[in-house]
Formats: sequence, structure tokens, C-alpha cells
Amino acid sequence: MLIKKPSDIKGSEITDKETYLNRRRFLIETSAAAAAVATGFVFPGHLGDSGEAHAGTKLDGVRKSPLSTGEKKTPFKDITNYNNFYEFGTDKYSPAKKSKSLITRPWTVAVEGEISRPKVYDVDELIKLSPLEERIYRLRCVEGWSMVIPWVGYPLNALIKVVEPTSKAKYLEFVTLYDPKQMPGQRRGVLDWPYVEGLRMDEAMNPLAILAVGLYGAVLPNQNGAPIRLVVPWKYGFKSIKSIVRIRFVEKQPKTAWEKAAPNEYGFYSNVNPEVDHPRWSQARERRIGEFFKRKTLMFNGYADHVAHLYKGMDLKIHF
Ligand code: MTE
Repeated sequence: MLIKKPSDIKGSEITDKETYLNRRRFLIETSAAAAAVATGFVFPGHLGDSGEAHAGTKLDGVRKSPLSTGEKKTPFKDITNYNNFYEFGTDKYSPAKKSKSLITRPWTVAVEGEISRPKVYDVDELIKLSPLEERIYRLRCVEGWSMVIPWVGYPLNALIKVVEPTSKAKYLEFVTLYDPKQMPGQRRGVLDWPYVEGLRMDEAMNPLAILAVGLYGAVLPNQNGAPIRLVVPWKYGFKSIKSIVRIRFVEKQPKTAWEKAAPNEYGFYSNVNPEVDHPRWSQARERRIGEFFKRKTLMFNGYADHVAHLYKGMDLKIHF
């Protein structure tokens, strides 16, 4: 991108094990009940038998999505060891090493702003809001590398429908946790923390935009944005904000963290576009992690059939 703790504490170790498991069971049961009230459906438990939500725990009942790419998946090792997560350092290898300090339970996501049903969701309740699917998506990073990642999640539009946006809701603003104790990278002023991202309402409603809670069939590792993150496959990777604590529906276009850091380099839209170069490098080609030769970058990262209509009539050199 632009610029370049504490020990392994898990929720289960802070509280004594039995209290912790009881609380988790309580949260899982009450959130299932709340989801049933909100949506009229009861989905099967998404976590495995243990009910634990730690990275690597298998997620149950995950369906395959027809929206997946058939390309070869990037190995789990690369997806989880080559990351951008500036809250844990600016090099690619730090997040895997340093993000163990992130405590992902209990975790809440405040959904607020221009909606009829604002609510602070427990993340486990949010996970159960809609059936989980495996979506194998290309991720194209602005720096020129790419991966193919089997995310587990559900369309963001499932949540949007539940909270009922008002007519004033034109954009969504997403915010990452701000806690320099857990996120040591936030002690440095590399970005104006917390990390903020945004989508226009019609982009957010597009079925390709997902809230992801897992990858390779299991709970998301911390370095990939646990416990819940956005994945927007037709945009550069930095739009896919990690470890979300707030989703706000707003009237005005939000200022994103990268726009604030370098407005001439990172625009609000940030659609993958081989024809619009980054001021300091070309975006025409990319290197798929694990491959030697570069390949051509595809318009909208190969998702043009699904999203090109969203930008009809817009000059994408201006709205980059
Ligand atoms: N979200 C937060 N909160 N902080 C970040 O630094 N980096 C972004 C995005 N989401 C980032 C973030 C960038 S630049 C990329 S390419 C993707 O996360 C990388 O996701 P991955 O590490 O899961 O592949």
C-alpha cells in the first residue's frame, strides 16, 4: 500500500473455562432465538459441536455458491501468512505473528444510522443471520498481487434487508476496532485510525459483496479479519475491511482511511481497473501468489458481468 503483545490470549483463557463455555452456549442459544424472531427462520448452528469460535473451528452447514470462481485456490498457508492488516504492522508477515493479541469474543457490531432497526449485534448473532456459503473469490491487491480465496460468509444485503434503511441511506460506512492495546500498529500514525471503508448503497446490495466469517470452511484466523470482515471482490483488496465493529448507514459519501492518507492515490471507488494506473505503478498486470509469470488484470477483477452496470455513465478515471 502507501507506506510502508501481549501473549496468545484467547477468550477462553481469560474467563475460567466453564463460565466461558456457559456464556458461549447462552450467546449461541439466545442469538439463534433472536435471529428466528428477526427473520422468521432458524438456521442450523454454524459452529462445530464444541461451540468454540476460535480460528480453525469448522463451520457447519456451509453451502457452495454458484458465484465462485473455478480457478485454483491459493493455499491456506499463503492466505494466512501473507497479509495486509496495518493494525498489526505494515509488512506482510507481521499480521500472522502479531494478531494473536486480538480477542474476538465477546465481540459486538453496532449497526446504526439511517435505518429503522438500529441494533448492537453480538457477532455470533450476526453470523447466524443468514445461511453461510463458501464463495471462492479472486482478491486483487492494489500492490499488484492476487490470490483466490475460499471465503465463508453471506451477502451483505441479507443484513441490509433486516435493518431496513431509510430513504436517506445512500452509503455504508464500515469501521474496524480501535484498541491500540490489542492492535499495536495503531500506536503508530501510519493511518488515521480506526480504519474506515465505505460502499455506495447499490454496491453494498450487490450479491457479490459479502460479510465473511471464515475461510477454507473454518472460523477466520485473526490475521484475515476475525471475527467478521467485508469482502468486495471487484474492488482492490483494501476495500475489504477487517475486524468490523460498526456499520453506519449515512447520507454522505464516507471518507475512507486510505483516501485520508493519500487522496491522489486511493479513491472512494477503487474498482479493479487495468486501464487506470495507480500514480506510482501500472495496474495492467498482476502476480498471482504461487505463480511465476504475471497475468493480465481483468476489468472489475473479472466480475464485470455482475457489476459493470453500477458504474454506467461514470468516468472511472475521475471516480477511481
Ligand atoms: N482492514 C483493516 N482493518 N486494516 C488493513 O490494513 N488491509 C486491506 C484489507 N482490509 C486492511 C484491511 C488490504 S490492503 C488488503 S489487500 C486486504 O485487507 C487483505 O486481506 P487478507 O490479508 O485477508 O488477504
